[in-house]
Amino acid sequence: MPIIFDLKDVSYSYLGKFEALKEINLQISQGEQVSFIGTNGSGKSTLLSIIDALLFPTSGEFFAFGKLVEEAVFDSLAESEFRTFFRKKVAFVFQNSDVQLFSSTVFDEIAFGPLQLGMTQEEVAERVEDVMGLIEISKLKDRAPHTLSGGEKKKVCIASALATNPDVLLLDEPTAGLDPRTQLWLIELFQELGKAGKTIVIATHDLDTVEHISKRAVVMGEDHTIKADRSACDVIGDLDLLLAANLTHKHMHRHGSVYQEHYHPQYQGHKRAKG
Ligand SMILES: Nc1ncnc2c1ncn2[C@@H]1O[C@H](COP(=O)(O)OP(=O)(O)OP(=O)(O)O)[C@@H](O)[C@H]1O
Ligand SMILES: [Mg+2]
Repeated sequence: MPIIFDLKDVSYSYLGKFEALKEINLQISQGEQVSFIGTNGSGKSTLLSIIDALLFPTSGEFFAFGKLVEEAVFDSLAESEFRTFFRKKVAFVFQNSDVQLFSSTVFDEIAFGPLQLGMTQEEVAERVEDVMGLIEISKLKDRAPHTLSGGEKKKVCIASALATNPDVLLLDEPTAGLDPRTQLWLIELFQELGKAGKTIVIATHDLDTVEHISKRAVVMGEDHTIKADRSACDVIGDLDLLLAANLTHKHMHRHGSVYQEHYHPQYQGHKRAKG
């Protein structure tokens, strides 16, 4: 499959002083499912923002679909064929749903993308109904997005991203804050989308889902570099790597009257990591 995203020595600093990414070399091919894992502040969201052409490298180069991604093309008010092509192809679900939601009803929120693509009112209505059915949010249709619960908001954001039928989905912590049933449902949805040939890139803290939603895992270190880029199965089984990246930790706790040492995935309950 062709390489669709190619980062060459990409570094990024916010305001020129807060380092977020350091010398990232990464290629993603069409149809791949990749997870970005790493502790808070390691740079996962920044990396997704670069890949979505929302941020542009401070140094290094980012190529998407074979073209150099330049700020001038994405920022300018002038028409750009490549920008239109890119925005049709790639959809982003933000870590914070409130950043993404802006319409007065859920229907309008999901209809926004298809309308931008020039679909007719009837086509848009049909598409929105379809996506709401798929995401199981039809009953929220007339609700104001800002009045929804966190999990409902997340579902509306995912529905908006899917409404334009993008080839590439970038999702920042999509399972965070969702109840276990909804998490499982979402994992199954990603699996289906993957089988349908979509490229899916997910930043997550949820080590338990990594193997289910991706074949490949990229580990970001606290120094904002890539620490590993291997099969998801390999990464999740590598206890030393997870300890070094601060993604799991040793923890003493009590079983009956006996204290035992356990390894904990950083953000999970009391579950034993493989190793
Ligand atoms: N708007 C900003 N201004 C200044 N620094 C920022 C900004 N956004 C992020 N940073 C810094 O960039 C680094 C990477 O942040 P980023 O949000 O990409 O991390 P992350 O891996 O997504 O973290 P989390 O797991 O908490 O979501 C952090 O050190 C953070 O403090
Ligand atoms: Mg983040």
